[in-house]
Amino acid sequence: MSITYKDAAGIEGMRIAGRLAAEVLDYLTPFIKPGITTNEIDRLASDYMTQVQGSISATLGYGPPGYVPYPKSLCTSVNHQVCHGIPNDKPLKKGDIVNVDVTVIKDGWHGDTSRMFLVGDCSIAAKRLCHVTYEAMWHGIMRVRPGARLGDIGHAIQTFAEKQGYSVVREFCGHGIGQKFHEDPQVLHYGRPGTLDELKPGMTFTIEPMINLGKRDIKDGPEKDGWSIVTRDHSLSAQWEHMILVTETGYEVLTLSAGSPPVPAFVPQPAPVQATANA
Ligand code: MF3
Ligand code: CO
Ligand code: CO
Repeated sequence: MSITYKDAAGIEGMRIAGRLAAEVLDYLTPFIKPGITTNEIDRLASDYMTQVQGSISATLGYGPPGYVPYPKSLCTSVNHQVCHGIPNDKPLKKGDIVNVDVTVIKDGWHGDTSRMFLVGDCSIAAKRLCHVTYEAMWHGIMRVRPGARLGDIGHAIQTFAEKQGYSVVREFCGHGIGQKFHEDPQVLHYGRPGTLDELKPGMTFTIEPMINLGKRDIKDGPEKDGWSIVTRDHSLSAQWEHMILVTETGYEVLTLSAGSPPVPAFVPQPAPVQATANA
């Protein structure tokens, strides 16, 4: 496989798919409270995609070589689940943290994004992990510009997360995305600056760090469902995901919506365009 560079039409397709994926999370937000099951969240999302958006889930039936087809329309990873948690009939309870990861397909283009949700009141430790992981994702995003390298992104995320006393999962990474769900390149969330592929305009990829409160080691979940991954030490794990376009001058986040949390204050904002004289 190789990296695909999106032209103007492809970029527009990715903008639409990205926004729709984010809007599924907006729609789900008020429902994510103590007592709801992850299967109910899955059903709400599936209905919203198919009946309101005219999109389809990219995860339902997704089965790369070596995997059984994924059975649900999104992933829900609770507490020490790292990623790819499969929705089930267990109600969420006060104090849980849950990652909801949504990937839609619209007009052949994929939109992939995830957020953390706090279920009722959560411990300070859980809230801090979710917050720091969000900031870690943005430390990676703000490195994106033509001429930068993938290693710059990973290094920024790793340095920030480890400075806070957390660890970065190594076995799963961000990915190129477009008309395929998982394309080249792999986007590692750790690494050395100035290494790996150079970023070029038209690339679209995700940045989706998984950060553990304890050690970085992971294992298959006890369900043995072929998908769910947990921390080996059972410490909490958090993840956020945005889909990014490399532009001529920097980056565009393709998975923003009305309900996206604010961009952290440390992220440089593009200078406002100077008003023309007499305008
Ligand atoms: N959405 C996940 C990602 O960010 C992949 C989920 S694949 C599934 O890459 F089959 F587990 F749903
Ligand atoms: Co992804
Ligand atoms: Co995802």
